[in-house]
Amino acid sequence: MTLKMKRTLNQSLGDITSWQREAAGVQGETSYGKFRVQCYNDHIARISVTRDEAFEDFSYAVVASPLGAPTLTELSGFLELRTNAFVLKISTAPVRFSFYTLQGQPINEDDAAFGTSWNGEQVTTYKKMQAGERFIGLGEKTGPLDRKGQGYQNWATDSFAYSPGQDPLYCSIPFYIGVHNGVAYGIFFDNSFKSFFNFGASNNRFASFYADAGEMNYYFIHGSSVAEIIRHYTHLTGRMELPPLWSIGYQQCRYSYYPDKEVLNLARTFREKDIPADTIVFDIHYMDQYKIFTWNNRDFADPEILLTQLRDMGFHVVVMCDPGIKVEEGYATYDAGMRENIFIQYPDGTPYTGQVWPGWCHFPDFSNPRARAWWQEQFKEYVALGVDGFWNDMNEIATWGQMLPELMTMDFEGQQATMRRGRNLYGLLMARSTYEGTRALLGGRRPFNLTRSGYAGVQRYAAVWTGDNVAYDEHMLLGVRLVNSMGLSGIAFAGYDVGGFVGDANSKLFARWVSIGTFSPFFRGHSMINSRDSEPWAYGEEVEQISRNYIKLRYQLLPYLYSLFHEASETGMPVQRSLAIDYTHDWKVYDGQYHNQYLLGPSLLVAPAESTKEFIKVYLPEGDWYTLYTGHKHAGHAEVITECPVHRLPVFVKAGALIPLKPAAPNTQTVSELLTLHVYTGKHDSTFVYYEDDGATFDYQAGIYAKRQLAYYAAERKLVLGTTEGTYVSPVKKLKIVWHGLDEHPTEALVQGEPIVIHPDVSQFLGALEKFDPFFDPEPAPQEAVYSAEMAYPAGEIVIRW
Ligand code: NOJ
Repeated sequence: MTLKMKRTLNQSLGDITSWQREAAGVQGETSYGKFRVQCYNDHIARISVTRDEAFEDFSYAVVASPLGAPTLTELSGFLELRTNAFVLKISTAPVRFSFYTLQGQPINEDDAAFGTSWNGEQVTTYKKMQAGERFIGLGEKTGPLDRKGQGYQNWATDSFAYSPGQDPLYCSIPFYIGVHNGVAYGIFFDNSFKSFFNFGASNNRFASFYADAGEMNYYFIHGSSVAEIIRHYTHLTGRMELPPLWSIGYQQCRYSYYPDKEVLNLARTFREKDIPADTIVFDIHYMDQYKIFTWNNRDFADPEILLTQLRDMGFHVVVMCDPGIKVEEGYATYDAGMRENIFIQYPDGTPYTGQVWPGWCHFPDFSNPRARAWWQEQFKEYVALGVDGFWNDMNEIATWGQMLPELMTMDFEGQQATMRRGRNLYGLLMARSTYEGTRALLGGRRPFNLTRSGYAGVQRYAAVWTGDNVAYDEHMLLGVRLVNSMGLSGIAFAGYDVGGFVGDANSKLFARWVSIGTFSPFFRGHSMINSRDSEPWAYGEEVEQISRNYIKLRYQLLPYLYSLFHEASETGMPVQRSLAIDYTHDWKVYDGQYHNQYLLGPSLLVAPAESTKEFIKVYLPEGDWYTLYTGHKHAGHAEVITECPVHRLPVFVKAGALIPLKPAAPNTQTVSELLTLHVYTGKHDSTFVYYEDDGATFDYQAGIYAKRQLAYYAAERKLVLGTTEGTYVSPVKKLKIVWHGLDEHPTEALVQGEPIVIHPDVSQFLGALEKFDPFFDPEPAPQEAVYSAEMAYPAGEIVIRW
């Protein structure tokens, strides 16, 4: 057969014809192409397969390098590559890649017949479907937690008012985790062409991943837990730096607040109504005819004064940043872009022109280092005005017509590629340019950066929100799952438009959405042009009170939450955690009844419920769990029916939880001298790393932080706050311990060996909810007894016994 004929049929890689050992793995020729295996550590092996002369060694996603020296042995019929964590068997005729545990249990095996194959230009790897295998992750994908039986496409798409089953959406994160028979592994397919994942859709034989073009280039990751797999995946694709503390407070947005008086009125209303908030977001109407880096002078006569007034009220500002640059001579950003020649071009050298908000536009080629430098320049005025939050939107690239041509050339750091390869990367590249550019301009302060589109690794540069959701219950729950899934896929800082972007929420829906959003990493209310008012006070007195209570709760939780962001920046562990992370092999967590549930950090189990429901069935995994509002204890591994009136989102606290809180305050800048540590006693020991820094600069990277391990010893009835690490001086002067779940009043307690008095305490778990109860619960449910004691808060070790 001629090569031409062969290319019309499915063609697999063939047999190994030669091979040689390499420092981190092995490389070889086959009858139809070549392959390479490179270890990145004991848990990560990269498999590359190509028909081209050379391997493609270019990635915008991966920041790690090959490392490690696996052993390689030639055995009859296969090569065996062994690390300290797994064994890779490469059969030689035909060449197939199969991974096993050190004890020989299959983890992930090529389909014996197909392995890696080409079908025309399309390249696919077929994996054997293991008995009982489940598939989770893949970033911002709709559908169930367990993706078995489903298929997905990665093709960054502007998805206005998407339906709950729609695919693809805005982000492309070609990384999933497989779970079966007590083992788990990850596959990251780093190919930015349009790609597809098939987890047994329309077939009962294999799970496969494929791309329209490019080479087969995937990373196999083995870990003993899902958390460990996420750690390795984010070793490859990077982790976020800490975001500014203000950005994890409540943000208020709408498309759009204008003129300036309305913005000020909005800010004042938050303060007058005693509803905490940190941020006002400026959507496209702040611009002159939607031209980025300009101000609409009619509605915003003096942005400097406005921003100063907002700052004086304790607000930060986030501005909308669209990539479409209006084609208009005399518009400084356009003129500079033309001069610098940084716009995406057709192959004939003319700039691509597409239509978006401002009309016909050119689009910066963020894969060109010169474009990134030009982009940074444009931000100087925003930064001079005091703007430190940036919102990258429409970066799929969204254009009217939704048919972005694919023939355009992108620079790709001088290597050049067409939009077929660039489209899935554009959001990542824009987020990167904005983050790096504004970070450089902010003189050591942290920018907040948000993006709609992204590719694997986007977590290094921006938080991601789920775009144009719609105001109804099912969509609210979908948003929770999207954030859970992004967390499984390296994106720890994510959220959805609280209240729903498209359409009008009703009061119950809004209240429920605020309460769920309280427990999400990125917490922002947003709604569309021509939709009803959607601020926390826009739905009547009762909803205003519910919103106030939950938003205050968010601010109380900041010490806990910020510690989780620190953990994410060190290990990639998401802030919002699908139950599949901690309870991977408990099949109940994949049940459609429970798959929206998640943990905020290690200890708070959130059970999102539709706003229309008064009761909901919740699955509590192993361990003991306390009802947040009453302290009532439940044994885990059980389904419980619980009330969920609109002012009480079901939340449970895991026994052993150590939850540091501070008093609620109007914004995150308010410093508190009091730290309250809630201890949920239980049968097992537990730890939590409590982390503080200035919340604003990168000084923490030079050791200016305060970090201590909190440890609870169940049998010894002891709590130890380890010696503070780092040079940041904590503002905390006073520590209050609140014990939950004690059977009786402790007769004696010691702090640093000295006796102290423990009081019975009537306070509930969360102070902010206290004064709220009489309003909604004329006869509040009886609270379980709690005990508390106050003490000093030295930086050295604190030992408390009772
Ligand atoms: C699309 C975004 O998804 C939405 O949040 C925003 O309000 C509009 N663009 C207008 O800028």
